Amino acid sequence: MSLIGRLLDHSVVFDFDRTGFRRHARAFDPADLAVDLSGRRALVTGANAGLGRATAEALLALGAEVHLLCRSAERGAAAREALARAGGGDRVHLTVVDLGDPASVDACVARFAAQRVDVLVHNAGLLNDARVVTADGWPQETAVHLLGPYRLTVGLRGALAGGRVIFVSSGGALTQRLDVDALQRTTGPYDGVVAYAQTKRAQIVLAAELDAAWPEVAVHAMHPGWADTGGVARSLPRFHALTRPLLRTPAQGADTIVWLAACPRLAGARGDFWFDRRPADAYRLARTREAPGERARLMAWLGECLG
Ligand SMILES: NC(=O)c1ccc[n+]([C@@H]2O[C@H](COP(=O)([O-])OP(=O)(O)OC[C@H]3O[C@@H](n4cnc5c(N)ncnc54)[C@H](OP(=O)(O)O)[C@@H]3O)[C@@H](O)[C@H]2O)c1
Repeated sequence: MSLIGRLLDHSVVFDFDRTGFRRHARAFDPADLAVDLSGRRALVTGANAGLGRATAEALLALGAEVHLLCRSAERGAAAREALARAGGGDRVHLTVVDLGDPASVDACVARFAAQRVDVLVHNAGLLNDARVVTADGWPQETAVHLLGPYRLTVGLRGALAGGRVIFVSSGGALTQRLDVDALQRTTGPYDGVVAYAQTKRAQIVLAAELDAAWPEVAVHAMHPGWADTGGVARSLPRFHALTRPLLRTPAQGADTIVWLAACPRLAGARGDFWFDRRPADAYRLARTREAPGERARLMAWLGECLG
């Protein structure tokens, strides 16, 4: 990459924005997505909107059978109908699941555990401006970004043999160091952006830990840069208003998710942290390296939460 390209990447803004995507896309190999996914089954959480919907649309266009895993029956059905009309036909299906509710996740596991699942995309996400605690007592972002996805992935481990799991993390994660106590905290001062970024850091660690522990499943984490979605407009209205002309389209934000799901060259590749189809440094800031034992604490706590 040219010196100017490297300087722009270092600026963060012109790395995560649409100009960054266009610059990075010059190195993409079109053959990577010249694939036929007929007969492959993909599950995408939070697929009724934003990046999840763009991911579902792209996987359908490549021929996959796509299951939209959505928490709202109405929003999910509307997305399914639109995607079916747009060419997905009878290859697009809806399962209603709330990732913040273990019983709902277990029902989803029961639905798919006896089938082969080629791709599982953990995309569902939220950023709250005030603390929300789930019925079983966890911060909502921790439940939706970590506990639910972990439960779903462990439940589907057999079905995923030979498949790929993708955690959609965030560039915001790169500002945070894994802190298991913070993931569990339900009292005291609350900053939604920090709480969100903490769970996104934990997703990167979780993906790496699962990938190392499970030889039969490739578990990746990625971040999408900054894309113009309803979630960003609702959760970060000032950031959205300020950066809108620079934001990526949802399809650009979803590009690396689709690439990780579909690229044949990645068959057999072990998981990593990715951005714009390249391995990315998850520890740009040295202070974000985990303290000794913190990764093991995360995995032990997630195991306990499975019950
Ligand atoms: N857009 C960006 O620039 C950006 C940047 C970094 C990371 N990300 C990550 O990318 C992912 C998608 O973000 P987005 O911008 O596309 O957001 P979005 O437009 O708000 O979409 C989020 C999706 O997650 C679903 N969801 C939320 N809580 C759920 C739950 N408890 N159970 C099941 N589904 C749930 C939402 O469902 P409802 O429609 O029913 O609410 C929606 O379908 C998130 O993980 C986000 O952290 C996005």
